[in-house]
Amino acid sequence: MKNLGRSAIVIAVALVAMAAIVAAQAVGQVNGISGPAKLNPKANISAAGFPPPYWAYPVNLPDYAAPPDKGEKMRVPNSNVTYTLTQIRDFFSPPDWHPGDHPAMPSIVGQGRKPQVWACGYCHLPVGWGKPENANVAGLPEAYFMQQVADFKNGSRRGTVPDILPHSGMVAAIMPTTDAEVKQAYDYFAKTKLTQQRYTVTESATVPKTRVQGSWVLAPIHGDGEGMEPIGQRIIEVPNDPVLTTLRDWRIGFTTYVPPGSIKKGEALVTTGGNGKTVQCTICHGNDLRGIGPVPPIAGRSAISTFRQLYDFKDGARHGAWSQMMQPVVKNLTLDDMIAIVAYTSSKLP
Ligand code: HEC
Ligand code: HEC
Repeated sequence: MKNLGRSAIVIAVALVAMAAIVAAQAVGQVNGISGPAKLNPKANISAAGFPPPYWAYPVNLPDYAAPPDKGEKMRVPNSNVTYTLTQIRDFFSPPDWHPGDHPAMPSIVGQGRKPQVWACGYCHLPVGWGKPENANVAGLPEAYFMQQVADFKNGSRRGTVPDILPHSGMVAAIMPTTDAEVKQAYDYFAKTKLTQQRYTVTESATVPKTRVQGSWVLAPIHGDGEGMEPIGQRIIEVPNDPVLTTLRDWRIGFTTYVPPGSIKKGEALVTTGGNGKTVQCTICHGNDLRGIGPVPPIAGRSAISTFRQLYDFKDGARHGAWSQMMQPVVKNLTLDDMIAIVAYTSSKLP
């Protein structure tokens, strides 16, 4: 009886410890790396089979404060333009460091509409290529672009961790838009197609220690806490120059560290379906993964941005009009499978 009581206590303690670990992973406080994240009550974490990893849903640390504007004129390489930090943070006038990289922006992209419609070009950048915390919107099929906007508006496309600013800002910005404004944005982003590899996918057993450094982006720690650590079951995607990325210079690429063996494993799943584990992505997204008809391209995107979509489909937070087609695809995918798949899709030319 005594022993039974003791083992019950041991089990109870172990369960509490496990729950704490799972919860910590879900809210992203492993090693104090990321900030607290709230889960979408509509998302079914049990259906997903594992909690949303903090590295795919990075949240600014609670003590994060943006550096103050001291009036300094900021610059980026190969640009004659200068902006103050206040100008760079203006949601209604995103910094346009390289005007020669894109056609003239319609007002919805370059200025948005006050008070609520932040300029699309702020988060998605004037070229529409986006960043890991949002999405590429350049060169998407028209029907897909319009359907996503409709899904955001009717609430059927939400993030698993919905109250992180990039996502809640997207929803807030898109809600009041008119069909004409959305069409203008589409027509513009149709002309700025992403043609270069922005993400260098690198298999590596060790990665730099990182923390969220503003802008919902993980970046290597410099100074106190700097060093290397095992990658584990993670993808660590970092800007090649975090300072310039924070200044919103879209010419800066990213390095995507993935566990050794991921790319080959991902290729097998993507191109063969892995003996029924999933459905060959190439059937619908094309052999080059650049999309077919209204089915969107998925090659050369941010790995963590792509990972979030697979996760959001699986736990049901993303359940738009066309999402049903992705259900059999994600149903049996594990964390490792998703890591492998997005390592491969991200490594392909967009
Ligand atoms: C506050 C930042 C922000 C602003 C402003 C913003 N977006 Fe987004 N957008 C996002 C994020 C974040 C996502 C990805 C959401 C997700 O993962 O579900 C996204 C996704 C999208 C997608 C879906 C892309 C895909 O591949 O499925 C479209 C289309 C889109 N945005 C269009 C727009 C348009 C048009 C505007 C301007 C009216 C706009 N966005 C303004 C942050 C923003
Ligand atoms: C039966 C056709 C089909 C198959 C097979 C398929 N997809 Fe999809 N996929 C779609 C459709 C349709 C959408 C748009 C879903 C929506 O609008 O919610 C989509 C959307 C996506 C998106 C979201 C894109 C974005 O920009 O947000 C990702 C990522 C994706 N699929 C990855 C995959 C991967 C990886 C595989 C293979 C493991 C795969 N898909 C297999 C049809 C398919």
